[in-house]
Amino acid sequence: MTKEPAKRPLRVAILGYGTVGREVVRLLHTQADDLTARIGAPLELAGIAVRRGGRDRGVDPALLTTDAHGLAVRDDVDLVVEVVGGIEPARSWLVDALKAGKSVVSANKALLAEDGATLQDAAAAGGADLYYEAAVAAAIPIIRPLRESLHGDRITRVTGIVNGTTNYILSQMDATGAGFNEALEEATELGYAEADPTADVEGFDAAAKAAILASLAFHTRVTAADVHREGITEITAADVASARAMGCTVKLLCIAERHRDEDGGESVSVRVHPAMLPRTHPLSSVGDAFNAVFVEADAAGQLMFYGRGAGGAPTASAVVGDLVAVARNRLAGARTTAESPYADLRIRTVAEALTRYHISLDVADKAGVLAEVAAAFAGHDVSISTVRQEGRGDDATLVIVTHTATDAALAATVDALRELPIVRNVVSVMRVEGGEAK
Ligand code: NDP
Ligand code: HSE
Repeated sequence: MTKEPAKRPLRVAILGYGTVGREVVRLLHTQADDLTARIGAPLELAGIAVRRGGRDRGVDPALLTTDAHGLAVRDDVDLVVEVVGGIEPARSWLVDALKAGKSVVSANKALLAEDGATLQDAAAAGGADLYYEAAVAAAIPIIRPLRESLHGDRITRVTGIVNGTTNYILSQMDATGAGFNEALEEATELGYAEADPTADVEGFDAAAKAAILASLAFHTRVTAADVHREGITEITAADVASARAMGCTVKLLCIAERHRDEDGGESVSVRVHPAMLPRTHPLSSVGDAFNAVFVEADAAGQLMFYGRGAGGAPTASAVVGDLVAVARNRLAGARTTAESPYADLRIRTVAEALTRYHISLDVADKAGVLAEVAAAFAGHDVSISTVRQEGRGDDATLVIVTHTATDAALAATVDALRELPIVRNVVSVMRVEGGEAK
């Protein structure tokens, strides 16, 4: 039998040699033989782009360049890995590389969520692949299942814990009773939170990931700007204790849902915010800096994907997995259609989202107070599920949990409560997700 001739190496440009880039290069070296066998041709490093030149990076200096664009479009490059981050100049590099027919693997959630369409169009124009498994929840395979495995099904809801930093902070607050600042300090000391934690604690990072997940799940282009976003900086130790008393944990959730509209059509809502989640819900046991994504689909039922959502090695695992896929496609002369936004569903405003609220109020403890409070809910057609009262002399704290209503109706109810003279203070307002809680 004649042996198939060895295929020429596929040349890979790595843009970025930081936390993720270094681990990608390490895997390309340590797994070289296995990768060659899996792909059918070796992967060869064509170059590595960095921002600051002239440093010893522990790699052959001839591979290093500060001209990322030049490297990405070079004739001898087949595949481009982008692990730099940010919108520009990364977008321009990748658009030009894709149009030149080079397949791209990117971990850049910010870019994909802000302007994924431009990259997808460039990939189609160049007949190239665009893969981005690492952009959401790093090592956890979730893009491929949404983009391929579940394409025979109808996804109704995706709920995720997709930011490790905030999950660590909230888990610590739950476990130790610490306040937000104390838990953030600890997350910073352990290297989970960055020096500027804004993108994480204000929910921008999770919102970018939510947009990417929703786009794939609902075959609709969703951008970061379409996602309602709230962070966790206002969460207090008292909120977490109150959740605990209800048998709940507080989690920063990304929630993407499909809805049936009154006219018979469908729409989607995508939001990121902290919420109380019953301890019986599978996502409530996701602690520390771990991530998880819970998918609900008509035929498959409930699926949970769990693992490490950050860190150099876990992220590089997803990047190199994508490299194998795009390299195989290249050898086969094939291309995987990256997106299918055919459904183009209407994107709902947060006001239309259906949710339940946990509201804690300081009120005067006298006759008729409960009736006035209940009337404020009834006036906006919001049904109360439970009421708990704790007396404190002339005052009392009322803890009210509602049934499902639109976010607009619940927000209007809270505004009405704030206007009531018998309400001394609206202490906290938080959404409750994941089934009826006590
Ligand atoms: P780092 O900040 O550690 O590394 C960024 C790299 O990009 C550095 O090597 C830097 O060069 C290089 N770079 C920056 N600007 C330029 C430029 N203009 N030209 C050439 N090179 C440039 O980032 P990470 O490795 O942490 O993240 C990379 C990407 O992966 C981001 O999109 C991030 O969101 C994503 N990601 C990261 C995860 C993580 O856990 N870290 C998890 C999932 C996704 P220099 O070394 O000279 O500074
Ligand atoms: N800062 C992100 C997190 C990194 O904390 O999850 C992964 O995207």
